[in-house]
Amino acid sequence: MQMERLKGLRAAVTGGAQGIGAAIARRLAEEGARVAVLDINGDGAAKVLPSPHIGLACDVTDSASVDKAFAEIKAAFGGIDVLVNNAGRGSAPGDGMDKYYAAQAEQAEGKDVFIDQTIHCEDAGWLAVMDITLNGTFRCTRAAVRLMAQEGIGGSIVNIGSTAAVQGNGPIPYCTAKAAIVGMTRSMARELAGRGIRVNAVHPGATETPIYNGLPDEVKQAVASDSLLNRMAQPEEVAGAVAFLAGSDGSFATGSVVTVNGGAYFI
Ligand SMILES: NC(=O)c1ccc[n+]([C@@H]2O[C@H](COP(=O)([O-])OP(=O)(O)OC[C@H]3O[C@@H](n4cnc5c(N)ncnc54)[C@H](O)[C@@H]3O)[C@@H](O)[C@H]2O)c1
Repeated sequence: MQMERLKGLRAAVTGGAQGIGAAIARRLAEEGARVAVLDINGDGAAKVLPSPHIGLACDVTDSASVDKAFAEIKAAFGGIDVLVNNAGRGSAPGDGMDKYYAAQAEQAEGKDVFIDQTIHCEDAGWLAVMDITLNGTFRCTRAAVRLMAQEGIGGSIVNIGSTAAVQGNGPIPYCTAKAAIVGMTRSMARELAGRGIRVNAVHPGATETPIYNGLPDEVKQAVASDSLLNRMAQPEEVAGAVAFLAGSDGSFATGSVVTVNGGAYFI
């Protein structure tokens, strides 16, 4: 049992039906918050936590869906104190990653080929990754800050970034979106400090979630060996950093990036 450091707070976690988001939702609930789990998979969101927590269908790429979900949070909880922007997508059809992997395999066979992504990345693939990962973070933050401003209560926003923002070791639109989230975190931290709203980011390293399901063990081991601790993170280890920033333990942190990457790099 964790300490109840978030007792009385009302929280929302996007992309909370599985993986890191579900672990964050559970951790915030254990710490005493009432949690709204938002996910495009509404049925999955509803199964993460029992009442009085709620699970809502919410597509972060659709402003109307986001605004509806936050209206439902207001109706159920009266407002919101904590938002965790966790929904994100690493890759999408048309982003060139299929050709990237194919070229990588050819290179492994000794063929002299370029491993291209930029020249194969179509608008649709670029925009799909940006829309969920970057624009979704903006849409949900805007909806939450509107509610916080109505109540005049302050609050805490935690954006889930990625080591990819710093290392550039991922699909190009994904690395771009995650790096932009750092800029958004810092500019909003400046803007919203006067309202008592703190804005921070957490950069997870490789974390064992369903995105790694089905990958060969040697691939997972190669990913794990990037960290000094020679393993991937568990979602709960990311959730611990989020709980710190969300509540009063993180009361003097704003505009910061907390890196939870097993020492894969230092900043
Ligand atoms: N797993 C990792 O190694 C890792 C590393 C660094 C950062 N991250 C970041 O952590 C976050 C969670 O990653 P994960 O591995 O748990 O992912 P995941 O794919 O397991 O879970 C993502 C959740 O987001 C939901 N979702 C997808 N599209 C949505 C939309 N349009 N609106 C609302 N919800 C939507 C999915 O239904 C799913 O429940 C992401 O932002 C990811 O980029 C993950």
